[in-house]
Amino acid sequence: MQLGIENISFATSEYVLPLATLAEATGVEVGKFHVGIGQELMSVPAADEDIVTMAATAAQPVLEGQDLSAIRTVLFATESGIDQSKAAGVYVHHLLGLDSRCRVIELKQACYSATAALQMAVALVARRPEQKVLVIASDVARYDRDSSGEPTQGAGAVAMLVSANPAVLAIEPVSGLHTADVMDFWRPNYRSTALVDGKYSVSVYMEALRAAWDDYREQGGHELASFDRFCYHQPFTRLAVKAHRTLAKHSGELSNDAADAQIANTLDYNRQIGNTYTASVYIGLLSLLENAADDLSGARVGFFSYGSGSVAELFAGVVQPGYREMLRTSRHREQIQRRREIDHSTYVRLHDHPEGLVGGDHDIAPETTGPFRLAAIRDHKRIYETVAQVSAPADASAVGASPAVSTDTATTAL
Ligand code: CAA
Repeated sequence: MQLGIENISFATSEYVLPLATLAEATGVEVGKFHVGIGQELMSVPAADEDIVTMAATAAQPVLEGQDLSAIRTVLFATESGIDQSKAAGVYVHHLLGLDSRCRVIELKQACYSATAALQMAVALVARRPEQKVLVIASDVARYDRDSSGEPTQGAGAVAMLVSANPAVLAIEPVSGLHTADVMDFWRPNYRSTALVDGKYSVSVYMEALRAAWDDYREQGGHELASFDRFCYHQPFTRLAVKAHRTLAKHSGELSNDAADAQIANTLDYNRQIGNTYTASVYIGLLSLLENAADDLSGARVGFFSYGSGSVAELFAGVVQPGYREMLRTSRHREQIQRRREIDHSTYVRLHDHPEGLVGGDHDIAPETTGPFRLAAIRDHKRIYETVAQVSAPADASAVGASPAVSTDTATTAL
């Protein structure tokens, strides 16, 4: 029996900040961002967007035409949780009209937890192959302004339907694992932005990669040369290039050029979105599937998933014949291109005053053109809306201009 990803989709935020704008405002040579870390743009959520709205937007198309009663589990992976108790996936479950006969939980281990969710989903489906599991990874990467991590922020969500009909990618059973108690990146409960020891985080990422690879091989995994492509967790795309060259050298099997060819096209979307923490490696998969010119049917794809703190997993999947019929390439490119460009002062406003962190009751003015929005916080409860869709405004730079969504909405108070 083959198990894996039957359907996959992603969503990102309403706004985008070019790193050229950040470079100019902070007096940094733009080449450091474009070349040194390999990032061009970063997604910035509107005040009425969060991990729930992006997750629901990503998952909605994946559920089209599905028998919702077959989805008896939702696994929501995030490290930008909105509540210490309630799983964000419960809001998404409601917004998408999923069956009440369903278990919903939230998973956390920095950027790694989506991979844990995927593997747990595969195990659940192995036990009950007639059931499906909805795996969602959704995150907003936020660092302090003027910190080393600032240009590596971003936002996005991926939804994957895991089943015994893996029309996109069959997951192979062997995994290489590595856990080490390190303090490279973390976010205490009292902070809205992450703390990071940047250079150290890169070195422990590479250590985890080598250790997970060694374990993968010891567990009976394939040699590196038998992979066609490789997807990395990408806090910034340059790291994936360095990581795969590190692995090529460690395994002694590939030249730098051959290593670079194996990660081709996995970086395209991430370069334009920024770090999406748990979602990043799977946005890399979509970037590969949707941007590679050649037919990848039968291709073996390696995945390196890393979550600071740290847990890492290296595993493989095989792209299925006919996968192209499952893709939503134009929708995903539109997700990236529809974003409205913001100036530096708007970015500062959004960054420094993220909604809901201060407590108190407030309505949140409509900003997003997406199908779901955070409408208000009342009595410490988040209230989400499903928004009647209208076309995006023609003037993409007019941030703060007239609302881009109809206020005539079907309000869902949860
Ligand atoms: N033109 C071209 N390149 C330039 C340049 C210019 N004008 N100016 C600088 N560069 C190059 C530098 O030479 C350097 O290249 P190398 O890495 O090849 O040496 C690169 O740009 C970056 O420059 P710095 O090392 O000086 O950059 P920095 O110290 O300010 O920031 C960083 C780098 C510490 C990784 C920072 O981006 C950061 O803190 N990021 C957040 C943490 C992170 O993402 N860590 C990754 C591993 S942890 C993880 O994966 C989990 C997660 O998601 C966070």
